[in-house]
Amino acid sequence: MDFSLSEEQLAVRDAARDFAQNVLLPGVIERDEKQKFAEEEVKQLAELGFLGMMVDPKYGGSGMDAVSYVLAMEELSKVDASVSVLVSVNNSLVCWGLEMYGTEEQKQKYLVPLAKGEKIGAFCLSEPEAGSDATSQSTTAVRDGDHYIINGTKNWITNGGTASIYLVIAQTDPEKKHKGINAFIVERGMEGFIVGPKENKLGIRGSDTHTLMFQDVRVPVENRIGEDGFGFKFAMKTIAGGRIGIASQALGIAAGAYELALAYSKERKAFGKEISKHQIIAFKLADMATEIELSRLLCLKAAWLKDNGKDYNMAGSMAKVFASETAMKTTVEAVQIHGGYGFVKEYHVERLMRDAKITQIYEGTSEVNRIVISRGILRD
Ligand code: CAA
Repeated sequence: MDFSLSEEQLAVRDAARDFAQNVLLPGVIERDEKQKFAEEEVKQLAELGFLGMMVDPKYGGSGMDAVSYVLAMEELSKVDASVSVLVSVNNSLVCWGLEMYGTEEQKQKYLVPLAKGEKIGAFCLSEPEAGSDATSQSTTAVRDGDHYIINGTKNWITNGGTASIYLVIAQTDPEKKHKGINAFIVERGMEGFIVGPKENKLGIRGSDTHTLMFQDVRVPVENRIGEDGFGFKFAMKTIAGGRIGIASQALGIAAGAYELALAYSKERKAFGKEISKHQIIAFKLADMATEIELSRLLCLKAAWLKDNGKDYNMAGSMAKVFASETAMKTTVEAVQIHGGYGFVKEYHVERLMRDAKITQIYEGTSEVNRIVISRGILRD
């Protein structure tokens, strides 16, 4: 077994690290406070090829592997999880879904600008009453000649106000339950498509999260992804890869908080010595480092499976459950190690603690991901 990374993978990691430390870090506290989307920073990320990382260069992507994607997600998330969630959704949910299941025309028209980062994508599955229970879609897509007419509401949509290309999941034939669900490409500006209010959130406050409304939106049949009734499988397959991205985000949040706590503990003195020399702090650091390393291994294993054409469904959920729980625990401990300083914004760890929570909720709650894992274990 070889745990070493290639030169190319290390270069991607270093480029993401430099970008995070030099470009994202300076404004991250202000963006969090003001709920400001990192528009300029995201443009620069696009120019560096981080928005279509795994897309084939013939469709405008960077042609990297999923391992590189995990490494980049970790580095970006150490500093700014509001930016890294955009990177994850655009890469894993939107670009990957279109590259795998889109027609050539759909790829030319939509994937190319998304992979180049000229346009931003959003993935619209969650509804006011269909979060974990994703088969219970109440958004409808009724066939009308060579169009579908979409009606309904989608909630908590990442990049909702920023995107211009939306992948929308909707129910066409309720009698067929999940086999009657379709996925569509909806463009901003289509009549009846309304971007609703922006959410005021606990964490990832720089990420642009909105409710979206669809009122008789006419979408041409050629914008349906896959065969009639493929929409639920499309969503599940896409989210399975997305979970590797969010697991890596959680890993990065944990690692970012740990690095800050480690540095602080080596500087701060109490009772006559650096606090890192007190066993109670040293043991906390040991647990943090161990759980972060385990999270990293799970993320990289899931990515390796994906890169090698193997089933990564269960591995992605395992990575997401463990890394997101590690992010929560580690960030709470990082605040604790910082004492009073941890409670104020300048020290960054309180933001990482708030950002950590969403990783246990989106792309399947920890509970849903345990369903995926247990079904994987109990299958056959
Ligand atoms: N790959 C391929 N097919 C899959 C699949 C996968 N990973 N998972 C399920 N399916 C298929 C099943 O094989 C089944 O197909 P057949 O009928 O042909 O056998 C079909 O889908 C239905 O599957 P289930 O019976 O397992 O469905 P279920 O109702 O029991 O639900 C669930 C399963 C795992 C709970 C699922 O509903 C789920 O994942 N829910 C959470 C949804 C989620 O992650 N939402 C996140 C939104 S995106 C987001 O958060 C983005 C962001 O902002 C960052």
